[in-house]
Amino acid sequence: MISQKIAQLINSQIAKEQYAAQYYLSMSAWFYAKDLDGIANYFRVQSKEELMHADKMFDYLVDVGAEIVPGEIPQPPHQFADAKDIFEKALEHEKVVTQSIFHILKNANDEGDFATVSFLQWFVNEQVEEEANASQLVTKINMVSGNPSALYLFDQELGQRVFSPDTEN
Ligand SMILES: [Fe+2]
Ligand SMILES: [Fe+2]
Repeated sequence: MISQKIAQLINSQIAKEQYAAQYYLSMSAWFYAKDLDGIANYFRVQSKEELMHADKMFDYLVDVGAEIVPGEIPQPPHQFADAKDIFEKALEHEKVVTQSIFHILKNANDEGDFATVSFLQWFVNEQVEEEANASQLVTKINMVSGNPSALYLFDQELGQRVFSPDTEN
């Protein structure tokens, strides 16, 4: 049986994943407004992934019979200095999410709640991927900054990303 504390932590993590989805949508909108639809697409897919993360946690709480209490989702920033600023904020945010997942994991482990420990393993691996991708994109945006033809190609590249819930799961 899941403790109230762990259930509460996962409930609030659901809201954090939904916040991340909103944040990425906000980033996506910024790029659409700049006619960089490929990069906008990338963040839109990213946003859908975050909703999928929230869904996975919701399903878990259902499975373990925990009380589900929808959390409050704060308004994310919607003004950004430039493209580089957005990629840096995306990376920063993924790091925050990683720490938040580690925090739940640590508590679950301390309580001997190995079902939650096992459930969270997927998210631990996912965060490694998320941080690696976000970090690589920071490097790339630094490479293409100030070079319109390189930015054009970068936009094309990110436009290729498709949301595939089957492989993301
Ligand atoms: Fe996530
Ligand atoms: Fe993420």
